Amino acid sequence: LVATICVPDADTAAALEPLVSAASALRVLVWAPKAAAPAGVDAVEFFVPAYQGGVTPSADLALMPHLKVLQVLTAGVDGWLDRLPPGVTLCGARGVHGAGTAELALAGILSHLRQLPRFAAAQQRRQWDRDFTDTLRGRSVLVLGAGDIGQRVAAAARVFDAEVTLVARHPREGVRQLTDLAQLLPSAQIVVLALPSTPETVGLVDAAFLAALPDGALVVNVARGALLVTGALLAELRARRLYAFLDVYETEPLASDDPLWSAPNVVLTPHIGGGTTGWQRAAGRLVHDQVARYLRGEPLANVVTEGY
Ligand SMILES: NC(=O)c1ccc[n+]([C@@H]2O[C@H](COP(=O)([O-])OP(=O)(O)OC[C@H]3O[C@@H](n4cnc5c(N)ncnc54)[C@H](OP(=O)(O)O)[C@@H]3O)[C@@H](O)[C@H]2O)c1
Repeated sequence: LVATICVPDADTAAALEPLVSAASALRVLVWAPKAAAPAGVDAVEFFVPAYQGGVTPSADLALMPHLKVLQVLTAGVDGWLDRLPPGVTLCGARGVHGAGTAELALAGILSHLRQLPRFAAAQQRRQWDRDFTDTLRGRSVLVLGAGDIGQRVAAAARVFDAEVTLVARHPREGVRQLTDLAQLLPSAQIVVLALPSTPETVGLVDAAFLAALPDGALVVNVARGALLVTGALLAELRARRLYAFLDVYETEPLASDDPLWSAPNVVLTPHIGGGTTGWQRAAGRLVHDQVARYLRGEPLANVVTEGY
């Protein structure tokens, strides 16, 4: 019996080579984004679309009538759930981008507290702008999401003696739940969004949420733009009451006339959280391990067919 696996590039195909040599019954096809479908696509059982290729058109998925597993390379699977052909198992890439994304959240927090943009500007003017800056020590950090990203952000912030509170769906030791937010927001000096975009989390950070934060608080969004009501945040930024560090947006790429570009108190990055130079190795390892499980008939990891 031949299992046909379809991957987006030669690097991912190379990650499967140990399995190909061990099981001659495995065939690997490469289908790059926007390229024509490879010969034999109708036999594909296990499909890995490209990381930044967007959501695969339904018409392309329809070329794979034997598809059993759709292994995406993003941690978030919003956009995929509603186009999943019946009977196909959807797997996310939890673990591939978490460290890089948590690192970016920390970079945004530390850059804000230690005022790196201000000193970079002073450098341009050759100005010795020595001053006291803020610190993570003793800051209250509220991390929404206690998964791969959230746990890493919490651990890193604790290294610098921040007071960290984690919030998730299932309350457990050291983790609160969203219904506690009313109690937690008034003392949160830094809020990090590390939740998936789901019907329960879309629009969570609205005007009332933001109004509950203390003056000068920093909102960090490295999760999904849909969690945050941009207009409500813009009002707080323009009033110079809150600060923000954003990596993700309601619409991406951010249009050149988007008001966020020129808003005060905000630093923007173009959705680079998971996109580090090391991501391909981690993705290759995930695809290898998942295909190995599939060939052995074992349960797959990161199954999100029913959502998160
Ligand atoms: N900027 C980027 O490039 C980038 C990169 C990677 C990921 N992301 C985004 O970040 C999200 C989180 O990634 P991750 O790898 O940390 O995911 P994860 O490991 O699956 O963790 C998700 C966390 O969110 C919590 N959660 C889910 N639904 C919730 C709800 N309705 N209310 C409260 N908490 C809820 C979960 O709670 P439980 O622990 O109780 O289940 C879990 O703690 C992804 O879904 C993706 O959208 C962005």
